[in-house]
Amino acid sequence: MKNVKAIYPGTFDPLTNGHLDLIERGSKIVDELVVAILRNSDKGAPLFSVAERQEMISQSVKRFENVSVMTFDGLLVDFARSQGAKAVLRGIRAITDYEYEFPMAMMNRKLDPNLETLFMMPTEQYTYVSSRLIKGVFKLGGDVSELVPPLVMQQMKAKLPAKS
Ligand code: PNS
Repeated sequence: MKNVKAIYPGTFDPLTNGHLDLIERGSKIVDELVVAILRNSDKGAPLFSVAERQEMISQSVKRFENVSVMTFDGLLVDFARSQGAKAVLRGIRAITDYEYEFPMAMMNRKLDPNLETLFMMPTEQYTYVSSRLIKGVFKLGGDVSELVPPLVMQQMKAKLPAKS
């Protein structure tokens, strides 16, 4: 691929090791990768603010020279165009992801036929990991420390109400 800038969009509430694995894989095949956090997500009350997520992701991707972290609002195709990106990177873990991703990819193609969606699979180790599951298990006292970056784990613990 020649001089390709790609956007890796998502909610990232929080960043998981699955996301990080995909960022690493993506950074090896494109020239520039922008991790883009959606600001106006309709997923309900987030665990982390967008600023907190941006900071945690920035710290976690420091070692990848061609990866940056931004936030966006509105249509992904508009953001991609404003960044001069030719591709969108998304992860596919299981067939259920395909059902969620396919209409989004087709809609994005309808809105901008020049923007390609690239799908990559994270390592098998993380195929069941999602931000939603991480939050749910953590809130119930489960150990998710092997599934998120250390900084994210630390910040999640800091969100727990102080024990009296
Ligand atoms: O982490 P997520 O929730 O799976 O990411 C979803 C995301 C951010 C990729 C998607 O909701 C998105 O692109 N939203 C921006 C609005 C948009 O462009 N919608 C039309 C594409 S279907």
